Amino acid sequence: MTTLRGLRVALRPVSESDLPRLFEILRQPAVARFWTPPENEREREGLLLGSDPDGADAISTFVITLADEVVGYIAGWEILEPDYRHAGVDVFLDSARHGRGYGVEAIQLVCRWLFEVRGHHRVIIDPAADNHRAIRSYERAGFKRVGVLRRYERGADGTFHDGLLLDLLAEDLA
Ligand SMILES: CC(C)(COP(=O)(O)OP(=O)(O)OC[C@H]1O[C@@H](n2cnc3c(N)ncnc32)[C@H](O)[C@@H]1OP(=O)(O)O)[C@@H](O)C(=O)NCCC(=O)NCCS
Repeated sequence: MTTLRGLRVALRPVSESDLPRLFEILRQPAVARFWTPPENEREREGLLLGSDPDGADAISTFVITLADEVVGYIAGWEILEPDYRHAGVDVFLDSARHGRGYGVEAIQLVCRWLFEVRGHHRVIIDPAADNHRAIRSYERAGFKRVGVLRRYERGADGTFHDGLLLDLLAEDLA
């Protein structure tokens, strides 16, 4: 897997030495509110390193870097069953870097790779329905709203919250 380079950010495969920095970002309140990693340490590390696809057929995980500083994580996971072939994206960014367009750039890079290199035609993403910044960022990348997933995921407060399903076809990519 190669490094994917955008105008400002670059994505390179996650290595074990990145884990402390990624866990530090995951502990930031603005990130922890919307990104709950598995409680089990081995599963959590496996998810970030791409060795545990968590229900998907494959997962490719990248750190988001800005001039070689690790500022976040993005993963492209894949369902390879031929009749329902599609991919999905998970992402988080250091809260000191939110709202500057780095998220859009990283999402565009990984989606282009999923379409052009991995041969997918459809990518999905499913933020919490009240994660307005994430939804705006995904829409800027070209994702379209499909609909509300009622009481879809259990949040940090232990209750089930609505999610919003968005999808992106290859021709939608901004
Ligand atoms: C989601 C995330 C990756 C987006 O990356 P980002 O770099 O912060 O977002 P961008 O700068 O690319 O885009 C944010 C957009 O939302 C807008 N925005 C910011 N705060 C907002 C808010 N509270 N409500 C609505 N829109 C908001 C910005 O103005 C921008 O839109 P614009 O470019 O049209 O002005 C990042 O914010 C993040 O890591 N959040 C915490 C973890 C998380 O939520 N992960 C996703 C789980 S699905």
